[in-house]
Amino acid sequence: MATAAHQVEGGCANNQWAAWEKQGRIKSGDQAGLACDWWRNAEQDFDLARSLGVNALRLSVEWSRIEPEEGRWDQSALARYRAMLMGLRDRGIRPFVTLHHFTNPLWFESRGAFERPESVALFERYTQRVVESLADLCRDWSTFNEPNVYASLGYFLGEFPPGRKGRFLKAAYVTRNLCLAHAAAYRMIHSLQPAANVGWAQHYVVFKPRRPESAADRWLCGFVDRRFNENFAESIERGIAPFPLNKFGAGLSEVKGTCDYVGINYYSRLRAGFHLNSPRTMFFQLTVPPHKPQGDHGVDAPYGEAYPEGLRRAVERFRSFNKPVYILENGVPDREDRIRPWVLQSIVEQMQDLLREGIDLRGYFHWTLTDNFEWNEGWHLRFGLIELDPRTQARSLRPSARLYQEIIRKSTARQSRNQKQEDLAAN
Ligand code: FCB
Repeated sequence: MATAAHQVEGGCANNQWAAWEKQGRIKSGDQAGLACDWWRNAEQDFDLARSLGVNALRLSVEWSRIEPEEGRWDQSALARYRAMLMGLRDRGIRPFVTLHHFTNPLWFESRGAFERPESVALFERYTQRVVESLADLCRDWSTFNEPNVYASLGYFLGEFPPGRKGRFLKAAYVTRNLCLAHAAAYRMIHSLQPAANVGWAQHYVVFKPRRPESAADRWLCGFVDRRFNENFAESIERGIAPFPLNKFGAGLSEVKGTCDYVGINYYSRLRAGFHLNSPRTMFFQLTVPPHKPQGDHGVDAPYGEAYPEGLRRAVERFRSFNKPVYILENGVPDREDRIRPWVLQSIVEQMQDLLREGIDLRGYFHWTLTDNFEWNEGWHLRFGLIELDPRTQARSLRPSARLYQEIIRKSTARQSRNQKQEDLAAN
């Protein structure tokens, strides 16, 4: 199961997303408020996760709580995270910790965040504090969640803070600093915990040309695919600077190979096409044909086609890393649970095929356990297996939660049968 601090904890007031909300930039006009109330009581959702049979949970730690002002460390925040990790372990759930899931402390944001070269050392120092405090409770780390989304939505599409549009070069510098910060954190974690399992989460979208007969749409589709899906990942794989900096001879050899696994966040397929009447979206549009299965529509744009077969494309793209694979996020916004059961079943079939073909797939984290605050969509998009009323904090299980429980039960039974057979064969 996958979650992120700002989306579930409640009361995160000291990061750039809280400021974005105050500026009225959440499209639905919603407020995160208490979110899922995890800062006070994550344990009620841990109990629910356990009751479903979940054995691993991905959560993030909130930099703005741990270092609320530059160089000041809040021990009580670290103590709360220790309690959460212990709570998970006590319930037989293995914690996977993300160090950065989109949010920056306000002091860091006002210094230019990852636009500035000093961000690398600041992130490394924060990583050191977190790992020194939590390493006895956790071995699995993600440095950054979706650096490709952070850079492209923040600096190209302007949908995420800091809301810059069309800043191609700036996005490339941000990506470069994210790569360097990731590599510094990777080395720092391993120096403190040699057996750590460290990677990041790459968002992957399957793109298709909107009009396959149009050369322009085909070109656009290839361009968007490379620039979004390769962003960050190709730098880590090959030690090259992010496009277009690589074209000016910039290198990044020090980041090459800094991951122990490939982490994939996969949700959907989108059609890419030129649209001259859309200056707001840089003259291109991402659409979904109306007859394709899809979850709920975002406030002003489709979320994407639900296309479980695309998982294979993502896994195959990153096969060249030659590393174990974790699906660190996958899900669908679906308040009424119309298509989620189908998405879940189909994804499981995809993973079974991939495993049979010998892909070293180590884990699957569903996004998400309980409806949570979906960034600039607010409470509008609901991804939870469990429905939440944010006002009363009442929770109720969607049918998909029961299905998920059943999927886990069957897969655990299968694993223990296989284990018994192996034991017999070894005797
Ligand atoms: C991913 C984000 C996650 C959540 C899901 C729906 O891109 O990493 O925080 O918003 O989408």
